[in-house]
Amino acid sequence: MAPPPAGLVLVALLALVLALALAPAPARGDKPARGGASSSIAAGAETEPSSAVFPLYGDVYPHGLYYVAMNIGNPPKPYFLDVDSGSDLTWLQCDAPCRSCNEVPHPLYRPTKSKLVPCVHRLCASLHNGLTGKHRCDSPHEQCDYVIKYADQGSSTGVLINDSFALRLTNGSVARPSVAFGCGYDQQVRSGDLSSPTDGVLGLGTGSVSLLSQLKQRGVTKNVVGHCLSLRGGGFLFFGDDLVPYQRATWTPMARSAFRNYYSPGSASLYFGDRSLGVRLAKVVFDSGSSFTYFAAKPYQALVTALKDGLSRTLEEEPDTSLPLCWKGQEPFKSVLDVRKEFKSLVLNFASGKKTLMEIPPENYLIVTENGNACLGILNGSEIGLKDLSIIGDITMQDHMVIYDNEKGKIGWIRAPCDRAPNDINTVHGFEEGYCWPQFLPGIIGLPNEDCPAYYRSNKERFAKAQGGGR
Ligand SMILES: *[C@@H]1O[C@H](CO)[C@@H](O)[C@H](O)[C@H]1NC(C)=O
Ligand SMILES: *[C@@H]1O[C@H](CO)[C@@H](O)[C@H](O)[C@H]1NC(C)=O
Ligand SMILES: *[C@@H]1O[C@H](CO)[C@@H](O)[C@H](O)[C@H]1NC(C)=O
Repeated sequence: MAPPPAGLVLVALLALVLALALAPAPARGDKPARGGASSSIAAGAETEPSSAVFPLYGDVYPHGLYYVAMNIGNPPKPYFLDVDSGSDLTWLQCDAPCRSCNEVPHPLYRPTKSKLVPCVHRLCASLHNGLTGKHRCDSPHEQCDYVIKYADQGSSTGVLINDSFALRLTNGSVARPSVAFGCGYDQQVRSGDLSSPTDGVLGLGTGSVSLLSQLKQRGVTKNVVGHCLSLRGGGFLFFGDDLVPYQRATWTPMARSAFRNYYSPGSASLYFGDRSLGVRLAKVVFDSGSSFTYFAAKPYQALVTALKDGLSRTLEEEPDTSLPLCWKGQEPFKSVLDVRKEFKSLVLNFASGKKTLMEIPPENYLIVTENGNACLGILNGSEIGLKDLSIIGDITMQDHMVIYDNEKGKIGWIRAPCDRAPNDINTVHGFEEGYCWPQFLPGIIGLPNEDCPAYYRSNKERFAKAQGGGR
């Protein structure tokens, strides 16, 4: 039997500016491929960029994160990385040696001196500018040190290194590009929990140190990334545009945010059912590194008031250790499907010229806890210091394919059954052999990677059926 979770994991991976006193001047050359630096390099590759697809593990509740297995180093070794569209830097807990590391699923990554990226490198400048608005490099031989701090108060101190990632592409090839990423040797976590379900973070933001910007530079994939997080846990992640349903998805231009390499469609007005709440979310950010959604103080207040006013009598407010605002019914709820009828949908209307709506049905803002209560999965961003930012987190993006297209400068979304295999037959090659498809096999979320190949072999037929079974 699984032990009861000690408390809810509130992961909010959104890189924050460290020195708030510093004017966060954006580095001009730091924006990704939108007509920028990388086109000249891509011209060096004779072949078309391809795509890659990866299964995801994890869920919103109770695990609080979605993660991917990546093969890194030479020879490649697997690591679990928290999928984070709210920050640029990919990093691993690292034996540099380690000053403060958590208990992680795999042996610590061991860097060598020859793999250090010098601080004069443009990627180091991009990293520093993205984190503090200021690049410091006193001598050309210096290494590239950094500190990254997240919205949940966690932080990682490390040094930028360069090693290969092994990616199975949808065209059948395996690419082993060298990319720069962080070797984190001093991690501070907010809670006292010293064990971490992941070895590090996969940074997918818009800056040039982001993994996708680097893959684009190497001619491996286009600078397009998307995820499909299943309500039932698992899902998939993809790089490149082979899977993107350009015609069917809803698209909104990325706002040229004055600072940070966030994915933001700008501002949105908020509706509850068909009623306007008369408030705007000033700066909306799509952040897969955050398990829950956060609204700035004013829209949060408006939402809570509207929810409480519209609630049926069968629901009663009930304290629950999981989240600040919960309700119980006459019987404990088993799933969010038992309670969705009692709640209305939220709608965000992105002000980008024409009407661009995102509907958020109850299952995309509520969770049902192990106590059988329904809790609001939209939290007060002021409490974690987000000011005017509002974060669209995993709970709200579940069962949507969400696409960050840095080539066209657009963000898109479309409802999708994320527990199904992506239906393009080519993409099946994208899954590294031996990795599990947790979404088809209930109960193995977070299965240790080592167990996966054996599990895969013993269930080969079921996997084959599951993969062929996608529409
Ligand atoms: C697949 O795409 C990659 C990246 O463009 C390329 O290097 C490789 O040659 C391609 N493989 C095949 C079989 O076309
Ligand atoms: C990483 O290493 C590769 C090959 O060793 C090299 O071509 C590339 O320039 C290096 N990149 C950085 C950022 O140091
Ligand atoms: C949201 O958080 C802020 C800062 O802690 C607080 O002042 C405000 O009352 C909170 N709003 C609600 C509705 O709880």
